[in-house]
This record gives sequence, C-alpha cells and structure tokens, in this order.
Amino acid sequence: MKRRVVVFISGNGSNLQAILDACANGTLDANVVGVVSNRRKAFGLVRAERAGVETLYFPLGPFKKRGASRAEYDAALAEAIARFQADAVVLAGWMHILSPTFLEAVPCPVLNLHPALPGAFPGTHAIERALAAAQAGEIDHTGVMVHHVVPEVDAGPVVATQVVPIQPNDTLEALAARMHATEHNLLVHAVGKTLSTLASPPPPSETP
Ligand code: GAR
Repeated sequence: MKRRVVVFISGNGSNLQAILDACANGTLDANVVGVVSNRRKAFGLVRAERAGVETLYFPLGPFKKRGASRAEYDAALAEAIARFQADAVVLAGWMHILSPTFLEAVPCPVLNLHPALPGAFPGTHAIERALAAAQAGEIDHTGVMVHHVVPEVDAGPVVATQVVPIQPNDTLEALAARMHATEHNLLVHAVGKTLSTLASPPPPSETP
C-alpha cells in the first residue's frame, strides 16, 4: 500500500515537483494525495493540478479579517487536511509558521525543508544571508536540512542534512541553483526515510 503524502507550499513548488517526480518514477513508494497553499498564485498549485493532485487553497487573510487567531487558523487547517489521511505532511517552501495547535492536531510526522544547516539562518532569505556571511569571510559553506517541525522556526529533530560549499565568487543565482538542486534530492531522501520508519499499516481484514 502506497504511503500518502500531503505537501504544503507557498510559492514555486520546485520541491513539490521533486516529490511528485519521485512518486511517479518509483523512487518514493508514495502518492502525493493533497497539496495545500496559503497563496493563491503559488505556481506549485499549477504543478499539483498538472499532476492530477487535489489542491487546497487555505489563506490566513479571511481568518485575520474576522479577528480569528493564528491558532484558530492552524486548528482549521489541521481539520481541513484530515480528509487526506496523510502518513506525512511535508512543508516544502511553506511560508507560515505553524503553531503547536496544528502540530498537536495532526497525527503524522510533519517535516520541513530549510535552505540552511541546523541552527544557522532560520527564517526567510537564508540563502542570501549565507552568501553575505561568506562574502564577509565568516563561513565557506552552507547547506540544506530536513527536520521534524517543532514550534520553533526552522528547528527540530533533523532527518537529513547536506553541506553546500560556497565558492569565492559565487553569485546569488549560482548558489541558489546549487542549493535548490541539493534540496530536491535531499527532500526526496528524507521523505522516503521518514516513511520507512512508520509502523506498517494493519493487514486488510479477512472476510469470514
Ligand atoms: C526552498 O528553498 C525552501 O528550502 C525554502 O523555500 C524554498 C521553496 O522553493 N523554505 C524556507 O525558506 C523555509 N524556511 P520551491 O517553492 O521551489 O520548492
């Protein structure tokens, strides 16, 4: 039985595409059964539709407008994805911090991809900040990580990491391209690793 993966995106969705491709070519023994975006114009939604995957656009705006808290949004989001019966939720470029309310309500691993090594450059623009640190002579490498989500931003038990060297004359475009290529491989590896640790599903019940 194939595992069921739900991917959360906010933008381009190139990492979603890597997961979709890995499911299609058998690298991952899983199906993406839902793609959630908090941004209507996220290109990842187009990628999902092209792959025939159900999408859910779930913006924070209407909640804010009626004075609801982020915890209420997160609780509603957890409820909205329950129908997907996910074995794993993967945040792949999802730019919204999920509260403990969400994490407590979702009964499967929730993974996050971040373009930096554990403890370095949490938050947005991690690649830009790593390049600036390299140009200031502070570091000569950055990296990519996939970790279990905890309430702290871009932190939590690490599933996989990979170092990406920063070259002396790197441009942002060149470094970002190497980072994204690294992410695509590492994320597929980390999702597969996480799914392989799940308890086997119960065998189908026999008819008497
Ligand atoms: C990726 O680089 C991912 O690591 C980053 O957003 C990008 C999404 O790209 N996530 C974060 O910065 C999370 N803090 P994609 O939409 O092409 O997959």
